[in-house]
Formats: sequence, structure tokens, C-alpha cells
Amino acid sequence: MVEEVVRKDPARQARARRESAASSTTTVRRIGDIPGKETARIPSGIRELDYVLGGGIVPGSLVLVGGEPGIGKSTLVLQLSARLAQRGLPVVYVSAEESPAQIRLRAERLEGGCDDVALLGETSLDRILESVGERRPAMVVIDSVQTVYTEDLEGAPGNVGQVRECASRLMRWAKETGSAVFLVGHVTKGGGIAGPKTLEHIVDTVLYFEGENSLDHRVLRATKNRFGSVDEIGVFRMTANGLEPVDNPSALFMNLDEAHPSGSATAALMEGTRPLLVEVQGLATKAGYGTPQRVSNGLDPRRFALLLAVLEKRAGVPFSQLDVFLNVVGGLRLQETASDLAIAAALTSSVYDRALRQQSVFVGELGLGGEVRPVGQLDRRLSEAAQLGITGAYVSSRASLPRGTPLELIPVRHVADLVERMFA
Ligand code: TYD
Ligand code: MG
Repeated sequence: MVEEVVRKDPARQARARRESAASSTTTVRRIGDIPGKETARIPSGIRELDYVLGGGIVPGSLVLVGGEPGIGKSTLVLQLSARLAQRGLPVVYVSAEESPAQIRLRAERLEGGCDDVALLGETSLDRILESVGERRPAMVVIDSVQTVYTEDLEGAPGNVGQVRECASRLMRWAKETGSAVFLVGHVTKGGGIAGPKTLEHIVDTVLYFEGENSLDHRVLRATKNRFGSVDEIGVFRMTANGLEPVDNPSALFMNLDEAHPSGSATAALMEGTRPLLVEVQGLATKAGYGTPQRVSNGLDPRRFALLLAVLEKRAGVPFSQLDVFLNVVGGLRLQETASDLAIAAALTSSVYDRALRQQSVFVGELGLGGEVRPVGQLDRRLSEAAQLGITGAYVSSRASLPRGTPLELIPVRHVADLVERMFA
């Protein structure tokens, strides 16, 4: 519990009244009578980012770029600023975290010329808006929302009240001036307390920047977008000269070479509202003396035992003389039963030492009778898979097919069907 003292500051109240008077239209009107403003989007100049934003930057929008510290948020927004500035658009990069000299150092590493980006090192939001306002920028970057503060509230920068108040003031400011505002926010794995999670309802667009399996790859995805779809992802590689868009994301995600090992299958999970593809690895070896071992990393041991029993009884896969190991790549945990089919495929593949059909994903729940059940949000899982270059999907025969998914669907009714049909 953190106490937040609210000061009644007359100056602040007056300003809030002014701001709300300026931003609201107080008459009730038919939607059809409201003049439609043709807001042309500004292409960001970074293809992957445009993709995720739904076609470019919307003037007057507030975009939150969240991610763990060190993932490359500052690099991304600086590159974005440079691209816009090169095209002659006025851009202000407000650094409340690093000194201008540090930004300069980063700018030198980036290949795109950052020379024309206007830089402001300031942490007070009131002063930021004052100095930025005169320039009528097309875009303003605030790096980061956890380090700016407003004098209207007490409490250190970064606490919930400060973060929320700063974001809502920036939102009003963006709507009034028509400048797009990019807010950088740090999140920790747990979601953070005063982090972007508390802002998601305020902002127009939430982009998360995250690392994938291998260290230098980054995935940018929208989890909320008032101006576009949330299904697009953008993939980048962090190089010595900044972030580079990746042309073929499937190449980094999947093992595209011919020597695809046995015992490896791809599952499509939902992490909250986000689909996530993950490799599941099984290894079955001849057991030594005593009770065969069952070791699972990333799966509840009881679920693991249950799936082994179903596979043995319903599909005749002989596990009783084998030590069986299961590993989920990247330290992830499988918490959903939707990954049952992928686990079954990985384990069976290892027992028979035969690789699976390449570039396929397995999505389904297994019942005790060996039946394959449909899972929720199949279309989101499959469209993520398609974007990552997967071409075939093993799903329950009762699953309804999402329209226009460019995947070959392979319906499996029973785990025995799976064992029959899954090999290359
Ligand atoms: P940064 O953008 O500072 O992360 P964030 O703002 O999300 O905290 O990026 C930090 C990492 O990126 C840092 O470890 C160094 C690395 N990096 C490169 O590898 N190449 C580059 O050109 C730049 C600018 C950074
Ligand atoms: Mg940073």
C-alpha cells in the first residue's frame, strides 16, 4: 500500500477546467452530423512498426511502448524520431532518463542520421509541455513515463498516481494539439506495479516490445489499438547499429534446416490476450534400473503423467520402459491444456525417433479417452502461427475453421489419429 496525498491546488484546478473546456464539445449530436476529420496517417518509415500500428502514426494519438528494461525501447523510438526528422517532420525526443550526451552516444551508433531530432532533457511534465508546445511537433517521445512527474501531485515519479496523471495530461495534450505522443514505459516480467499495465485503458495504442528465444531478436506487438488490428507483429534484430527489421520472421523462430530433430513440436499458447508460439521438446530413452524417470520442465508433473498415460493407453505408445523428459524452450510454463497435443506429438516423435512434419503447430486438448478437444481463441493462435511462417496446423476435428487463415488444417479426432498422421 502506498499512500498518495492529493493536494488541492487552485492553479491546477483552474488548468484542469481550462483543459477540459478546450477538449470537450458539450452538445449532444448525431454521429452522422459530426464532421469527419480525414486524419492521414504518417508513415513511420519503419515497415515493421507501420505494420503493428495499423498503417502508420495517427496524429493526436497516444501510443505506449512497453517492455522490459534494456530490451531496446529507447533505441526504437530514437530510430523512429530520426526517420521522421529526416523527412522534415518536427519531432521532439524528451529524455527524462538519460542525459542528452548519452542520447548523443546512442545516436552515433545508429545508422540513420539523428542530427535533426530535437532533444529535451527534462523530467517535469509541466515544463516539457511548455517547451514542446511552441514547436508544434508532429510527434513527441517521452522516455520514460516512469521518470516524468507533475508538480500537481505529491509523490515520487513512477508511482501509480504520477504515472496515471502524466499519461492523462499527455492524452489531453495530444488530442488538443494533434501531435502524436509516444510514451515509453518499463515493465517487469510480473507486469510491474506503476507500469504500463495501469495505463492501458488511458492510451490509444499499447505496443509491447519483447525478446524472443534468441537474444538479439525482438518482437513488437500491439495488445491494444484503437486504430488498427492487434494481430500484427513486427520482428526486429538488435545489431551493433540499432534495430533492423527482420524480413522473414519464421527463419529465426523455427528450425528451417532439413535435419529437424525428433521430439520437437510447436505449441500455440495464449499469454493473457497474446498468442505465443513455443517449441516443446520431448526425449524418451531406455530406462536404467528401477522406476523409469519422468522429468518435466515447464509442465505440471501431474499433467505430464496424465498425458503419458493417455498416450500409452489410447494410442499404444510404449512408455513403460522409457525414461521420459519434457522441456519447454525458453523457460516458459505450459499452463493451458491447449498445448496437450503439442506435448503428445513431441513425446511420440521422440519414442519413434521420427521427426514431425515440418513447420506445423499442434493445438488441442486431450481428454482421458484420447479424444482431441477444441480450444478457445483458435483463430488468434493460428494467425500468429501463419505470421511466423507455419504452414500446417493439427487441430481438433470439432474446431471451427477461422476464415481465410492461410494454413493447411489437419483435423485430428483422436490421439491415435495424431500418431498416424503427424510424421513427415
Ligand atoms: P535501449 O534502447 O537503451 O533499451 P530500453 O530503452 O528498452 O531500456 O537498448 C538497450 C540495449 O540495446 C543495450 O543493452 C545495448 C543494446 N544496443 C545494441 O545492441 N545496439 C545498438 O545500436 C543500440 C543503440 C543498443
Ligand atoms: Mg531506455
